[in-house]
Parts: sequence; C-alpha cells; structure tokens
Amino acid sequence: VNGNLLEIGFWQPLLVRTVSVGDEPTPIRILYISDIHLRPHRSKRLCDQILVAARSAAPDVVLLGGDLTDRRSELHHLSVLVTQLRQLAPVLVVAGNHDLNLGVSLVREAVDSGGGMWIHDSMELISHGSRVISIAGPDYRTEPEDREEAGRNDVRILCAHNPRIWKTARDQSFDLVLAGHLHGCQFVAFEYHDRLYPGAWFYPYCYLNHRGQRSMLVVSRGVSDLIPIRWRCPREVVLCLV
Ligand SMILES: [Fe+2]
Repeated sequence: VNGNLLEIGFWQPLLVRTVSVGDEPTPIRILYISDIHLRPHRSKRLCDQILVAARSAAPDVVLLGGDLTDRRSELHHLSVLVTQLRQLAPVLVVAGNHDLNLGVSLVREAVDSGGGMWIHDSMELISHGSRVISIAGPDYRTEPEDREEAGRNDVRILCAHNPRIWKTARDQSFDLVLAGHLHGCQFVAFEYHDRLYPGAWFYPYCYLNHRGQRSMLVVSRGVSDLIPIRWRCPREVVLCLV
C-alpha cells in the first residue's frame, strides 16, 4: 500500500518502518512518532492511524518527536492520543518548532494531562530486562557528573525534532539520535549516500538512516505535512530495535 508513488491527502495507513540498531537478542522496541501536525478536519483520522500503527508495533516505549499540534483547538486530541498510547507503553515527548510557535506550556499541559512525560529539557531512564536505557530531550544538558552517570547506562538515546542536532550530537556518544522535521522534503526523486534528494540540496541533514563513527541517526518521514502531497515519501512511524 505504501509503495505508491503519489499520496494526496491522508488516506493510506502509516508505514511502520523498522530499523535495527545493534544486535541485542531481545532488543527494546522504541517507537518514534513525529510531525503529527494535528489540525482541524484531520486530527481524528491521524490519531486513529497512529493508534493502528502503534498497536501493530508493540512498543516498549513511545517517543513523540515534536510538531505535534498546529492549532490550539486540537490540543485535546493530543491529550486523548497520549492517554491511548499510554495504554501500550510509557510516552515520552519533546517539542518541535510548531509546538514552540503554539506555546510550549500549552502543549506540555496537554501531554501532562494525558499522562505523558515531557523530556524536552530532561532525561528519563527506562529499564528493559537487565539493561538501563537513558532517553534525553534536545535541550537536556548533562553536567560532567551526569555524563559519568549516563555513561554507565547500557544505551543512550537522544530524542529530538530537528535533525540539525546531528551536527553536535554525533560526537556525544549517543547510541541513537532520533529526529523528524521533514518540512519541504516530501518529494523524493532519489537516495544517495543515505540522503534524500532533492531535499538534501537544501537541508544537509535530509537523511533516513545514517551511521556515524559512534552513533546512528534515524530521521522519520513523519505522520503528516501542512500541504498533504507526497511523492515516493510514505507517511510513517519508526520502530527502532535497540
Ligand atoms: Fe518541524
């Protein structure tokens, strides 16, 4: 279904793209959902599609990667979505540029009231079997003593929105860096050296998956866009097996 070249509107189901990071025999299943862009006349359908995709992904933790809501009127849809996702797994959330425009305290309130955890400027530890996974937001700044503490965790993940963060995060010994923010790159002519073109001519971090020396960057193509036309660029959520 998602192999279609052209999608106009939001009629196709979301792709669940699976990415393996590492070779753990019983990996933690991290579902990254970004760029939902809740707006009037589309919120209900997008939330339903996300729930279908999330249930099929069977996640251990759900990350919402920003650009969640474009309008104040849609904040209650975000709360309900977080409440429903919470029935599957803990939900950790960061803001994107659209959430900052709307007012980060409003978005945070909606997330809190749904039972989600706001990690934009903090870090959460999740246990999985005998391992400890740290998941930090983009504005979390580690003190040297925190860094030592975090370094003892088995897996370190950075949950961000704008893939530009790769420029600095690639050398900070995260095992996995997650981003979205597809803006303007939803027409894909070809892939070259992990990047999507023509988007990468304008946005240097227009990657899908990219392995650095120490870390791996995974960029989601997101759940929706302001202008609902895509070509060879399926709307998706990303399931990382870490
Ligand atoms: Fe964005």
